Amino acid sequence: MLYGRRDIRSHFRPDPVPEEILGRVLDAAHHAPSVGFMQPWNFLIVRDRATRTAVRKNFETVRAEGAAEFEGERRRLYDSLKLEGILDAPINICVTCDPERAGPAVLGRVRIREVDVYSTCLAVQNLWLAARAEGLGVGWVSILDPGAIRTALGIPESVLPIAYLTLGYVTEFPPTPELETKGWRQRLPLESVTFEERWARPYRPIPVPR
Ligand SMILES: Cc1cc2nc3c(=O)[nH]c(=O)nc-3n(C[C@H](O)[C@H](O)[C@H](O)COP(=O)(O)O)c2cc1C
Repeated sequence: MLYGRRDIRSHFRPDPVPEEILGRVLDAAHHAPSVGFMQPWNFLIVRDRATRTAVRKNFETVRAEGAAEFEGERRRLYDSLKLEGILDAPINICVTCDPERAGPAVLGRVRIREVDVYSTCLAVQNLWLAARAEGLGVGWVSILDPGAIRTALGIPESVLPIAYLTLGYVTEFPPTPELETKGWRQRLPLESVTFEERWARPYRPIPVPR
């Protein structure tokens, strides 16, 4: 199941997602670990087409800004990639983080102040995997301006938009990440990212049979 999870943007089907199934996916997200058990997340379900169209418009602007960072062949490849399914998926979910959820003092949030954001990302991962178990695809759209998301969804200044997700049934779960298939980037060898005892000291994990 972990290996079968994919970021979906090209393969959404418009079929509605039963409320019961959406409920199970959200409940799994809400059972993620969080620093000091602060549960800093909110899940804002967006179905309204006008709202999604406004978000999609912002995506276009930010995507163009991102395109300017690449040149030549890379730029052509970037332009050919589908990087969101905001209007294709029947449901969008904005996952936010409220750093004030448990008051100013949070057990565990001391020198590493971002632990509330990390906790929120774990809720996203739970959601992603629970959705996969239900046969639902998820896409994370980060090519957005947080201010524009706040405006479109009425999110207060004190709350951080963390993840804008698209959710729905899919035509397929491709076996490999789309960015790999399209030649953007390959998965790094596990041993190249794993060290033992000290930074850069090699560790050789036992290969996993595929
Ligand atoms: C924080 C985060 C932001 C992402 N933003 C985007 C995005 O804006 N558009 C997109 O197409 N994919 C986005 N992705 C998906 C990644 O491209 C994808 O996870 C990666 O290529 C590996 O593919 P897989 O998730 O199918 O294994 C994002 C993923 C993460 C974790």
